Amino acid sequence: MARVPLIAGNWKMHKTHLEAMHLVQALGHELAGHDFAKVEVVVCPPFTSLRTIQTLIDSDRYEFGLGAQNVYVEKEGAFTGEISPSMLAALQVRYVIVGHSERRELFDETDDDVNHKVRAAFAHDLVPIMCCGETEAERDAGETDAKVERQVRRGLKGLKPEQARTAVIAYEPIWAIGTGKTATPEDAQATCSLVRKVVADAFDGSVADDLRVLYGGSMKPGNAAALTGQADIDGGLVGGASLDAGDFAAIVKAVPR
Ligand code: 13P
Repeated sequence: MARVPLIAGNWKMHKTHLEAMHLVQALGHELAGHDFAKVEVVVCPPFTSLRTIQTLIDSDRYEFGLGAQNVYVEKEGAFTGEISPSMLAALQVRYVIVGHSERRELFDETDDDVNHKVRAAFAHDLVPIMCCGETEAERDAGETDAKVERQVRRGLKGLKPEQARTAVIAYEPIWAIGTGKTATPEDAQATCSLVRKVVADAFDGSVADDLRVLYGGSMKPGNAAALTGQADIDGGLVGGASLDAGDFAAIVKAVPR
């Protein structure tokens, strides 16, 4: 099965719901005529904009997919401040970013937490975009492969092969996030290829062949083609550049098809 490239915009904590509407409308304009079956496009706004964007997607028949940036593991209950996977699914949210390095580093999420969230997502028909990646110090110490392997193995633990097959893994070197520094296409390819090998070992080769691996970290219109042109890079998880409709659309259009 050929993997359909995916470009997902992680808006992080940006945009009120009104600003979010404007951004999606501008993106709709920029991507008019785009073939979404060839390159899938997903926007991941903050929770407060999900309902607004869902309504806009429905009414204006946009073909963007909708993603959330986090999720809790329980369906409902006394968990003040949390959002459940079923609440997201009810909003036609299809994807959820899990284990972003900002959540791991700033909010102390562990590999086990990430694994619970991945499994909770699948239990409610959401597709996790599970993030992994090393810090600059880990990279300098030659620990990239060991860390990424650990994050991938622990994050996907307990999944059925048919679930793992549809998961998305985003390799995001932490030193490249929001810094303007990008991994070279060759370095990014090497780590994304490692991710696929780990998945092949944990499940089997056909699961690894189907699972999509994204690169994230200062992806821009100017570097998107070279990065997404690598054999094991199936698209991007885009932060800063996803806040600008023109830049985000240019990244989508840069993906070789
Ligand atoms: P930037 O594209 O701003 O570097 O962010 C990447 C990222 O963290 C996406 O999840």
